[in-house]
Amino acid sequence: MSKNPTPLDRVRAFEREQAMKLSSGERPLFHLTPLVGWMNDPNGFCFYQGKYHLFYQYHPFSRDWGPMHWGHAVSEDLLRWTYQPCALAPDTAADAGGCFSGSAVQMKDGRLMLVYTGVQPAGTFRRETQAQCVAIGDGMNFEKSLLNPVIRHAHLPEGYSEFDFRDPKAWMAEDGTFRMVVANRQKERQGSILLLSSPDGLEWSFRGEIDASRGEYGRMWECPDFFPLDGKQVLLVSPQEMHAREEFHAGYGTVALLGSFDEKECAFARESVQPVDHGLNYYASQTLLAPDGRRIMIGWMDNWETCKEAPRRHPWYAQMSVPRELRVEDGRLMQRPVREIKALWQGTVRHENIEIYEETQLPGIRGRLLDLTVTLFPESSACRRFTLHVAKDASHYVQIRCELARGELVFDRSHGGSHRDIVHTRHIRANVKHGHLTLRLLMDRESIELFINDGERVVTSLIPTPMDADGITFAADAPVTLSAEAHPLG
Ligand code: FRU
Repeated sequence: MSKNPTPLDRVRAFEREQAMKLSSGERPLFHLTPLVGWMNDPNGFCFYQGKYHLFYQYHPFSRDWGPMHWGHAVSEDLLRWTYQPCALAPDTAADAGGCFSGSAVQMKDGRLMLVYTGVQPAGTFRRETQAQCVAIGDGMNFEKSLLNPVIRHAHLPEGYSEFDFRDPKAWMAEDGTFRMVVANRQKERQGSILLLSSPDGLEWSFRGEIDASRGEYGRMWECPDFFPLDGKQVLLVSPQEMHAREEFHAGYGTVALLGSFDEKECAFARESVQPVDHGLNYYASQTLLAPDGRRIMIGWMDNWETCKEAPRRHPWYAQMSVPRELRVEDGRLMQRPVREIKALWQGTVRHENIEIYEETQLPGIRGRLLDLTVTLFPESSACRRFTLHVAKDASHYVQIRCELARGELVFDRSHGGSHRDIVHTRHIRANVKHGHLTLRLLMDRESIELFINDGERVVTSLIPTPMDADGITFAADAPVTLSAEAHPLG
């Protein structure tokens, strides 16, 4: 006798149906999109049984946010992804209001444990609440624990919220027990990141508060991650409602706090704070530790404010960023696209030490699937402004302008084809160092990720520009020397 299909069975059947109808033609080449419908945060980013796994916040039934599921894809190179069946659907009392963001960690017995936020819907007398749940499985099918939610608000000291309590990032400590950072909100300290520990992933105890926004860097902090890197301890958070200050723009942002951590005392000593990404579309970073020791970060290549206005041109909506290798240099968190990208290079076009003045096209340099590095040598020149136009045709372009005298880069997609009055421009610090300034652009059809000075600052943005706008031009206000290296991607 066949049993009634569960909500997850129904989603999986819907996915199979959709997969047959959908063409892969218009998808980005190496940025993950949801199989169908809506996607936001990366979840459960891990290396498990020989493959990278990436789960994601997913609403398969529309291109807008809705009851949250976990979508799933696997990859061997972090760039070419194969869809897996939906991993989690909101189908138990503990998560009926949605399976919100979380992480994945391999257990000692080899199984994979998903740790996620279960949302309990509002009742007549209650607001919606959030608590932490686990589901354990073989990398494709996961069974939710009957003990869910395994971490409730009651596990926390007084003063923490049961309404803003989400996004657990778990890992296994050296002694084989589990740790987790999770976001909460406290009246005075506001966005707060809490540390918990567990012998088995089911029974958790509160260890302490790692850091808090105190209203300086937004209110609620979402999607924390916490790891050691190159002698520092790094805390990543995604704040809501930031005020614009220094290098931080207003609204939803991404912040890296670097410092040191004394685990025994649960004391994080914050030394510096920096934006993770300066672009128009980047949020909710999550990292994994690759088998070769690399700390690799991925983020949602979007923004809660502007996604509402973004065109829905495909049966799917939203993309992940390129996965990035992290390192700390001179106290700064630096990023580089994963080295696996080289396998997508279809050739090399090089122009070395050439002089640019009036708007110029360089032979062989064009396209919307491109890994392009431009190195500018402005020192013995009167050049104060260097302008790169990409995704260009007679009526469109995206401008990357270096205001060398001010040490500033302006990213401007206002002429990139948008019909919406949303923010299209960012101003970012960009200084000439050791005689040069480097701009590495990864273009993948509808997006640009710009790595300034080998990843000192990163600017990630979607562009709505028609695909046949594929010209690239270089211009300066006085003759300047540059080198350019381009690799078409395929
Ligand atoms: C961040 C976020 C998370 C939450 C999820 C819901 O983008 O708001 O805090 O878990 O999205 O989809």
